[in-house]
Amino acid sequence: MAESIILSGTSKKEKYESLLPQVQALCEGEPDLIANIANIMAALKQGMNFYWVGTYFVKGNELVLGPFQGPVACTRIAKGKGVCGAVWEKKQTILVPDVDQFPGHIACSSASRSEIVLPCLDKKGEVFAVIDVDSDQLNDFDETDKIYLQKIAALVEKLNA
Ligand code: SME
Repeated sequence: MAESIILSGTSKKEKYESLLPQVQALCEGEPDLIANIANIMAALKQGMNFYWVGTYFVKGNELVLGPFQGPVACTRIAKGKGVCGAVWEKKQTILVPDVDQFPGHIACSSASRSEIVLPCLDKKGEVFAVIDVDSDQLNDFDETDKIYLQKIAALVEKLNA
């Protein structure tokens, strides 16, 4: 396992490109899903300097907080509620440029201004977790984040398989 994350490049795309293989290497040989996801979230926080990055896992009819990095967060979210609950329901990534414009947004932190949430699907095509990334800046996420965070979600899906 790699012992530290070393980022090269200055653009967002270059940072993700240099981070991805390191994130994959972090998980090699480790079969425990939660241990792997904990390290993936730490690598994303360290590498991309996100305000908050974490996971919620489907447990019954709620999402329950999983490994994350950043300020303390809400522990439970009902299906369809907030951005995370909507992603679970729709099985689609949602990018929110301004959280105040998203009806029902759940403000775990008043500092959060924009966010992107991605679903992770199991072998049956059901959502088993979501990855949530928050920024304290408005309009902080774009198509580049969507493309590379979907690669992270695909890695989490593979680790769960
Ligand atoms: N804002 C999310 C809740 C989770 S926190 O941001 C960590 C939502 O509306 O689902």
